[in-house]
Amino acid sequence: MCDYYEGGALDEITLVENTTGWERLKLHYRILAGVGTRDTSSTVLGQPVSMPIAVAPTAFHRLACDEGELATARAAKAAGTLFILSALSNTAMEAVFAEAASPRWFQLYIYKDREITLELVRRAEAAGAEAIVLTVDAPGLGTRERDTRNRFRLPDGLAVENLAPLGKGQLPEGQGSSLAAYVRENFKADIGFADLDWLCGSTRLPVVVKGVCRGDDACRAAEYGAKALVVSNHGGRQLDTAPATCEVLPHVVDAAGDLCEIYVDGGIRRGSDVLKAIALGARAVLIGRPVLWGLCVAGEPGATDVLSILRRELDEAMLLCGCTRLSDVSRWLLAP
Ligand code: GLV
Repeated sequence: MCDYYEGGALDEITLVENTTGWERLKLHYRILAGVGTRDTSSTVLGQPVSMPIAVAPTAFHRLACDEGELATARAAKAAGTLFILSALSNTAMEAVFAEAASPRWFQLYIYKDREITLELVRRAEAAGAEAIVLTVDAPGLGTRERDTRNRFRLPDGLAVENLAPLGKGQLPEGQGSSLAAYVRENFKADIGFADLDWLCGSTRLPVVVKGVCRGDDACRAAEYGAKALVVSNHGGRQLDTAPATCEVLPHVVDAAGDLCEIYVDGGIRRGSDVLKAIALGARAVLIGRPVLWGLCVAGEPGATDVLSILRRELDEAMLLCGCTRLSDVSRWLLAP
């Protein structure tokens, strides 16, 4: 289980560089800025959040603790922040969204079967999701050698619950990673902008495109109807040697920052990293693995703790950098 959460694609170069990239950026703080109480609040797609730190969509939370995604949703609610539920959850979206506060968004893959994809969207709308986050960097699953070696599969009793009523709740048996086999069997490999167009025309919810790495793609996604983008390389789990997200974020912001909101994930481990992301033009960051580690250690209180540590660190970084509110932060902070 640890390998499944922790691992990345192939040599895990992108996985490592996501983290070291943020570490390498330096904070050129301002002095004597008269900062008193800091305000970390913001909005995502117009919805208020207490901080620009959201819970990323990650799969299979019941590998971490019995309460699984229910625990994560409650932790995000306690933190007053955005919760994004993965399509590949071990708990059905109806149960999870009943526990989650606004903003709550649903992450989606495009299945080969349009009806399955559409049914997920309809159920998400009915269950109270307020946006659809379309992951576009997984036309197939990147090879994760740890999962291949471990022959990753879900333990008895766990399933892809959102897909269970649609006959796609079980990961197939066989050699290697059963998730890789599931993706090969079910996800649309030739996903294109026409699919984004179709999705935007098929739901009343705003569509967020996750997995953007280039400015030209960012513009095109916005032109096709995306209301926000996530600069992401899937936590280094898809294309190894894709650039670290902190490297590409400024290019995406320069290309499409006027067209839609831009968020970022990948390797963000400290509140100071969050401030760096904001300085580069992100509106918010998504946190994946740290929340999973919190769940592993202590379930809901563990995830809650991770979010409050990040909040405290962000607040401290703002104080020490001379920033009262997030709008005070921009690229000046990263330059001498
Ligand atoms: C699922 O999205 C994964 O990366 O394993």
